[in-house]
Amino acid sequence: MPKHFLTILDIPRDEVRQVLLRAKEMKDNKVRTDLLAGKTLLLIFEKASTRTRVSFEVGVRQLGGDPVFVSSRDSQLGRNEPLRDTARVLSRYADGLIVRTFGQQKLDTLVEFGDIPVVNALTDEYHPCQVMADMLTMFERTPDLSKCKVAWVGDGNNMAHSFINASAAFGFELALACPEGYDPDPEILDKAVNLGAKVTLTRDPAVAVSGAHYVNTDVWASMGQEAEQKKREAAFAGFMVDEALMAKGADAKFMHCLPVHRGEEVSEAVFEGPASIVWDQAENRLHAQKAILEWIYK
Ligand code: CP
Ligand code: NVA
Repeated sequence: MPKHFLTILDIPRDEVRQVLLRAKEMKDNKVRTDLLAGKTLLLIFEKASTRTRVSFEVGVRQLGGDPVFVSSRDSQLGRNEPLRDTARVLSRYADGLIVRTFGQQKLDTLVEFGDIPVVNALTDEYHPCQVMADMLTMFERTPDLSKCKVAWVGDGNNMAHSFINASAAFGFELALACPEGYDPDPEILDKAVNLGAKVTLTRDPAVAVSGAHYVNTDVWASMGQEAEQKKREAAFAGFMVDEALMAKGADAKFMHCLPVHRGEEVSEAVFEGPASIVWDQAENRLHAQKAILEWIYK
């Protein structure tokens, strides 16, 4: 049975810290291996990407494999060839699928009808590769992640959901501040809380950030929600992470998965200021993903 990485919870609790430690080792020692020699991994992207695409292409090469990029725009995916057919065809050519798409159920279809590993490179519901990189970024500063408080300020979106799962996996306290109507999915929240996630929900960003060591936010309208931009700008008024909000944290670091909308979800001063660790997050995509691929293929 192939291993898949669809959410952070797919890595067993007793292995997930080891994946982070390995990512750190790969980063510090500039690890290159031949783990994926002779293997071709397909990157199937139905949404735009800079970091995820490039860090996976580079990471697969650093592990000795061949990445092949497939855009939905110029493949039959864009002309509605059923995913269950695509899955069976691509399984005959390649050794893994790294997929950025809309609904998470599309990944489930690829898993059901294909017979090669599937990696979630972002869906509407989750962004687990990003949040594993974020865990590495926090771990580099706070080796015992269970001792930190993390604030999430903004949309209860794919990133928030993966942080909720990460709270279950790594044991940190997660305080989310979301405007009414933009809470995380209660099913995702309940499942993670049952697995030990320590999550609180508030409407007040100051409450969430109070005493936090890390303050995260994300765009107010994610890919696919562009038509809601204006409505969301109104709903998220008061949710910008600025210096006054950051000051409520415990020497808090600012985190953002990028790309950012400066002056919207975060002020220019915070984003470009000394508390911002966003470039380390971006770099850590490469190292975290190499460790995830090793967890799948070793
Ligand atoms: N953070 C992130 O996933 O960036 P890209 O959309 O550029 O891949
Ligand atoms: N929530 C954002 C993350 C982008 C990396 C989106 O889904 O567009």
